[in-house]
Amino acid sequence: MTRKKLIKNGIIVTASDLYEADILIEGETITAIGKNLSSQDAEIVDAKGNYVFPGAIDPHTHLDMPFGGTVTKDDFESGTMAAAFGGTTSIIDFCLTQKGKPLKEAIKTWHNKSKDKAVIDYSFHLMIGEINEEVLAELPNVIDEEGITSFKVFMAYKNVFQADDATLFRTLIAAKDLGALVMVHAENGDVIDYLTKEALENGNTDPVYHALTRPPEVEGEATGRAAQLTSLANSQLYVVHVSCADAVEKIAEARNKGVDIWGETCPQYLTLDITDLEKPDFEGAKYVWSPPLREKWHQEVLWNALKSGQLQTLGSDQCSFDFQGQKDLGKGDFTKIPNGGPMIEDRVSVLFSEGVKKGKISIHQFVDIVSTRVAKLFGMFPKKGTIAVGADADLVIFDPNKERVISASTHHMAVDYNAFEGMKITGEPVSVLVRGEFVVQDKQFVGKAGSGQYVKRAKYGTTKLLKQNETLSI
Ligand code: URP
Ligand code: ZN
Ligand code: ZN
Repeated sequence: MTRKKLIKNGIIVTASDLYEADILIEGETITAIGKNLSSQDAEIVDAKGNYVFPGAIDPHTHLDMPFGGTVTKDDFESGTMAAAFGGTTSIIDFCLTQKGKPLKEAIKTWHNKSKDKAVIDYSFHLMIGEINEEVLAELPNVIDEEGITSFKVFMAYKNVFQADDATLFRTLIAAKDLGALVMVHAENGDVIDYLTKEALENGNTDPVYHALTRPPEVEGEATGRAAQLTSLANSQLYVVHVSCADAVEKIAEARNKGVDIWGETCPQYLTLDITDLEKPDFEGAKYVWSPPLREKWHQEVLWNALKSGQLQTLGSDQCSFDFQGQKDLGKGDFTKIPNGGPMIEDRVSVLFSEGVKKGKISIHQFVDIVSTRVAKLFGMFPKKGTIAVGADADLVIFDPNKERVISASTHHMAVDYNAFEGMKITGEPVSVLVRGEFVVQDKQFVGKAGSGQYVKRAKYGTTKLLKQNETLSI
């Protein structure tokens, strides 16, 4: 017999609607939405007084990833569990590739990291570090067999991940032909390399020099360059982790000219600033990631860009390292501090509290930014990213009035600090369902490692009709 659940009396909030209704779930799928629904054999879930959001989708995570001489602390089990507590029901993680090695080997490695561990659904973006005949020959398979329809090019991290402009340009052309979205980490790696060497030569080794050697201009320049190359290739681009006004300006300028370009920011850039890197006793290392935190005034530009639609999504850029034993690899030399922070759990709640509660964005914009737009851009809509008959029952029952304080002592990430420590926020996920099963119920973890499913995604600019499986252009 099919499992049934009936969510009663919640306030359903989507990117476009807000209304009180019941949701009937049969198996993994939403089968009815309406007033006063009843079903004799369904488990009743009372959502009175709470919002019901579509499960949030995090488009930017690095779980179990080797980086900076170590490996990120949160793997697919602890990372997805923490994500679930935060209201996230799907993630898209970055699969790293190595030059000279088949793409399929890298994808296999990422499947092995995730398959018996994830407690929510997951998919992969694929890093492109080089373009040659072998890579080009593999790409159709990556898209059609693996359902990986987004490629990531790093313009920074010289001698590690950085690709040259020819590689970016050829990736943009290939993506246009194949139906993929190109993502860029937009910072000028060559200039950062120069500024970094200069800082070290001058004895400037503290964490704050991580930010001072990656000023906003290097992000603005790379963002503008990537936008121009996208225009020239008549392709499509998604700029990850936009941190500053200089980059927003370049994205807005290109969008106004009709370039198909999208921008993601992260909760850390909306709420923290460069002074965090100046904290004493090496504590600034907790805030070392790339691009770096900026002067506070950039935050208003980012909020306005989310509100006006010049930026469209929020990624966590989850890339967690312990303060003790990992971040401290860079004591006495900021270039050795592993870059990244723990954000997967608090991404949604920080945006709700700082954005919706403080009147900076509407509640529909909030849902769009953390879920619907991500699903649309990355080929998961409408199975994910909304609440509709036929969609996956990925749902968050959310108490909009609960006041709480973010802390490492209560978070669920494996890492030993929280970058938002002490932040007072309002709003909390109470229960979270993935394809009709509770993963978090009344704030308790009830999920199972390995229950998360790998999601094969549709090509960029297309969507699949629910049930019929017919592909449409959108
Ligand atoms: O510092 C960061 N952001 N670490 C993760 C890798 C990246 O650049 O996204
Ligand atoms: Zn990056
Ligand atoms: Zn990242």
